[in-house]
Amino acid sequence: METMYFKDGKLFLLDQTRLPEEVTYETCATYQDVAGCIRDMKVRGAPAIGAAAAYGMALAVLANESADRDEQTAALKRAGEELLATRPTAVNLRWAVERMLEKARAYTGSPHEMAGALLAEAEAIFREDVTCNERIGMYGQELVPDEARILTHCNAGALATAGYGTALGVIRAARQAGKKITVFADETRPFLQGARLTTFELMKDGIDVVLITDSMAGYLMSREGVDLVIVGADRIAANGDTANKIGTYGLAVLAHAHGIPFYVAAPLSTVDFRLESGDAIPIEERAEEEVTHFKGRRVAPEGVRVWNPAFDVTPRRLITAIITDAGVIHPPFKEGLARFG
Ligand code: MRU
Repeated sequence: METMYFKDGKLFLLDQTRLPEEVTYETCATYQDVAGCIRDMKVRGAPAIGAAAAYGMALAVLANESADRDEQTAALKRAGEELLATRPTAVNLRWAVERMLEKARAYTGSPHEMAGALLAEAEAIFREDVTCNERIGMYGQELVPDEARILTHCNAGALATAGYGTALGVIRAARQAGKKITVFADETRPFLQGARLTTFELMKDGIDVVLITDSMAGYLMSREGVDLVIVGADRIAANGDTANKIGTYGLAVLAHAHGIPFYVAAPLSTVDFRLESGDAIPIEERAEEEVTHFKGRRVAPEGVRVWNPAFDVTPRRLITAIITDAGVIHPPFKEGLARFG
């Protein structure tokens, strides 16, 4: 099942808000459609929103195919700004938009062929992500013992990327290496990416998965045993501090308290070398209805005050290693990451 594909001048995005009940694709004919799908989380996960935004940039030029170079540049700038404003935390979005702008700047052909060149770049971003994830899997699986009991949070799988996944890519690679794995998937309140998407993805692949609510993680570690925790990332600062789905920080504290390794799996495009530490990572806050309602039904009193940050930041001291497409980086992360910056 593809997270997205481009056909006949349109981008088709798997609507993740309808999974697991329905497998339907949203049609995006314009970059504004793509921006809407990112904002509404029909497409989500840092690498997937980066790839979708890249296609959105190509659509912005397709809509101005017969315009001159200046008009195309202005259209791209507008599209880039609008796409960047959709979700602030995942840096892959900025990375992809900047890569598309750079491609446009370096383009020397005729304006009416610019859309084709940008489309090819978006496709390259999409394809490279799968290769990247396979490399993360290859490096990461060496950290996974046979018969491992692995806890994961949110969905950092094929659905959150162009394919294979980052955290779930490591799990897939460990399985492919012949290891027996049991995955515990946190449900991931309030958007339920773990309950709806991670379980769906792993069950499809025949990987043993047990669904728990977020509040069960500590008890699971203390009573049943967990060999390692592995999560994805939305933005990693230059010193290794990592923003990921809300609840990740709590898991890292719990893992530390129980002496369990805590791994972050992410492509180097998730590292923001411009930020010295996690303090500067912008954290998206989402609508209160995500917390006050369940499946469209109100579950909290009318008028209650709500705080709904979509991400948190795990300090580097709680992270055992960062698994990237260039290899496993151990502390001190600042020096380790700087080799690739
Ligand atoms: O709000 P989401 O669903 O986009 O958040 C997704 C996550 O936090 C993932 O762990 C992260 O983007 C990495 S996906 C490979």
